[in-house]
Amino acid sequence: MPGNVIKLRFTLNEKQVLLQCHPGTRLLDILRHDFGLKGTREGCSQGECGACLVLMNGLSVNSCLIPAFALTDSEILTIEGILSLKSFTDIRKSFADIQTYRCGFCSSGMQVALAELLLTNREPNAEEIRRALSGNLCACGSYNGVVEAVLQSSSRKRRYGRRRSERS
Ligand code: FES
Ligand code: FES
Repeated sequence: MPGNVIKLRFTLNEKQVLLQCHPGTRLLDILRHDFGLKGTREGCSQGECGACLVLMNGLSVNSCLIPAFALTDSEILTIEGILSLKSFTDIRKSFADIQTYRCGFCSSGMQVALAELLLTNREPNAEEIRRALSGNLCACGSYNGVVEAVLQSSSRKRRYGRRRSERS
């Protein structure tokens, strides 16, 4: 590999990984090309569409703007991790009702944004869901359906919780 190369160690979807690359390589390219994690998508490449969102140390970031040198010792979670890791089982259930995506291009970025929200707020209201999705562009206009699906999942959880506490 010609030119400046750095060695990186970080956590990717709960596994320690090592990588050598140029310091300015974008996290988006590392995920897609070095690790084959194609669920993280490239839209605008300028930090404006949210298609490339991942969780970095629990916060959503646009991976097209994160250079490799910023990754040392960080914890990265991609949509693949969110959709498969046991620690996200509950959050995944909130996605099960979302069937309103049309082309689906924005869906992984939206789910990462929703995972960030649901990690700290299991029953968000419509305003909170809309705010969480404010960095995600959906050219097909699926927002209202996504907000509605997450709200329905929250209200089902509330009803289920009430029934359980009435029985106990
Ligand atoms: S591709 Fe990164 S924000 Fe659009
Ligand atoms: S469903 Fe097509 S961009 Fe959102």
